[in-house]
Amino acid sequence: MSITIYIWYLISIEKINEFNIDILNKLDNLYNRSIKEGFMEKKKMGKKPNMFPFPVTIVGANYKCKPNYMTIAFAGVVNMNPGMIALGVNAKHVTTRGIYENKTFSINFPNEEMVKVTDYIGINSGKTVEKSKLFENFYGQLKNAPMIKECPVNIECRVYKTIQDIGSDDIVIGEIIETYAGTDFITHGEIDIEKVKPITFSWKGYYSTGNFIGKAWEIGKNYNKD
Ligand SMILES: Cc1cc2nc3c(=O)[nH]c(=O)nc-3n(C[C@H](O)[C@H](O)[C@H](O)COP(=O)(O)O)c2cc1C
Repeated sequence: MSITIYIWYLISIEKINEFNIDILNKLDNLYNRSIKEGFMEKKKMGKKPNMFPFPVTIVGANYKCKPNYMTIAFAGVVNMNPGMIALGVNAKHVTTRGIYENKTFSINFPNEEMVKVTDYIGINSGKTVEKSKLFENFYGQLKNAPMIKECPVNIECRVYKTIQDIGSDDIVIGEIIETYAGTDFITHGEIDIEKVKPITFSWKGYYSTGNFIGKAWEIGKNYNKD
């Protein structure tokens, strides 16, 4: 690394830290004020799943040897090692049938620029529209879990377990076999959320992700309620 790049790197790290301290101080002040003003009054909101923000993903599977995709918001990591992701999927969806057919699937993360096509995939079924040609498809280690080149990050999974008796949706748990990231979206060897710009979702609609507000496993170290 040249000395200029190194100095630039140190300056940028310093700027990020200054920025964080400023945001953190503002958040601390707001939180302390809300505590002083008394705890917020609560209203029952029922049983609808309101676990905001939902991630917005595009799940892919081959159905009858052809790629098909569906938009999925019910997705989350459920195990660290080996990496496992659980999906809540309706059994009637074409992609779900493909998952059951091949025991493999992909999870693709669209970015903000892909919000329209992501919505399109979520309101049109492969029963009536052709979704295999919407993107440049590619395959990885599993050979039969189609992934989307245009998405910055793709995860290919092998089905570990399915649960079919919980209600309107099935649970599909997939073991992560490999993750692929566009080189433009990697910083210091890690996938960079600020470059990926993933989409999030609440029942109202789609949202972009916000600012970096603090280092995990660090900013809480000196927290003191008083
Ligand atoms: C924002 C959004 C989120 C969605 N999340 C889910 C979900 O978590 N689970 C699910 O089964 N369907 C979900 N859907 C619906 C499917 O994406 C949709 O029914 C899709 O057309 C199914 O396509 P397919 O039949 O070609 O597989 C979602 C749709 C949208 C627009």
